[in-house]
Amino acid sequence: MPLGLFFVLAGWLAQEPPAPAPPPAATSSLDFAVFRDRVQPIFVAKRPGHARCISCHSTGTPMRLQLLSPGSTMWDEEQSRKNFDTVARQVVPGNPLASRLLIHPLATNAGGDRFHNGGKHWMSQDDPEWQSLATWVRSAPAARAVAASAAASSTPAPLDFEFFAAQVQPIFLAKRPGHARCISCHVTGTPMRLQPLSPGSATWDQEQSRKNFDAAVREVVPGNPQASRLLVHPLAPDAGGDRFHNGGKHWTSQDDPEWRTLAAWVRQQTTGTSGR
Ligand code: HEC
Ligand code: HEC
Repeated sequence: MPLGLFFVLAGWLAQEPPAPAPPPAATSSLDFAVFRDRVQPIFVAKRPGHARCISCHSTGTPMRLQLLSPGSTMWDEEQSRKNFDTVARQVVPGNPLASRLLIHPLATNAGGDRFHNGGKHWMSQDDPEWQSLATWVRSAPAARAVAASAAASSTPAPLDFEFFAAQVQPIFLAKRPGHARCISCHVTGTPMRLQPLSPGSATWDQEQSRKNFDAAVREVVPGNPQASRLLVHPLAPDAGGDRFHNGGKHWTSQDDPEWRTLAAWVRQQTTGTSGR
């Protein structure tokens, strides 16, 4: 009897402590267990020709993962929770191709974005690791419901070229105190490559503007300013921007008139406002 009691007690004591605070609502549609068991191993895996994600992403980079405890090859439950919160910010639930986590380390010609300081780790969307991430992101139920109801209520209009030429492009040329103009960097050697201005011109002609439009559209998720790199990359992190833009944080608030102009363009609320 005393031995039986001992086991009952031991079993009770060994149980998990009460769960800590639930993750914030924004991330709750993503599955934590799948993240812990299927996604996290990708961050510690070694790929030929590349450093492990964790080699860089535990200090000094955006998407800062927890340090592994000495002697551990995997994170414990509490560390995993913190990683989950961090990584969920790189994800648009339900939409792998709008999720930085999936497109930043993916080869550009396989649907990835242009540049990741840490290299392109996946050459194809068929890569098993990429597929695991995509399954995790796609199966977020809340996002599916939201996407479905959005699709049911409106078919997205194409982005407005006239509005882009008249209202968005001037932002790339404008001077902001303490910053170089977007165009100073974004004509050569950077992603989102804009056309150089013709000698003597203060703005782009129609054909150049079309090319700029194509470059800018790739940085945008129509209907969703907060998921659009064009809007979150130069926006301060505490205003909803991402952590790091090599070219600096040009907007400190989503109330900035330039940011609102970009948001109107991305939300497709421009019809009739361009006056053409
Ligand atoms: C050699 C170092 C290095 C490695 C290895 C590396 N990264 Fe990165 N990563 C960076 C740096 C530096 C940045 C910030 C600059 C940039 O966006 O390219 C970054 C940015 C990112 C971002 C965007 C974060 C943000 O908030 O803008 C994501 C997502 C990302 N990395 C995911 C990964 C994943 C997943 C892996 C492994 C498959 C990986 N990285 C491997 C250095 C690295
Ligand atoms: C001082 C140079 C510089 C300036 C000024 C600058 N950028 Fe950048 N930008 C970069 C570099 C370098 C990268 C690539 C590394 C990174 O993502 O931070 C980049 C990345 C980006 C990206 C992500 C592109 C991609 O496909 O990954 C966007 C969007 C962007 N910049 C928009 C802007 C906008 C809009 C402005 C003006 C408000 C601007 N940048 C000003 C240098 C600059």
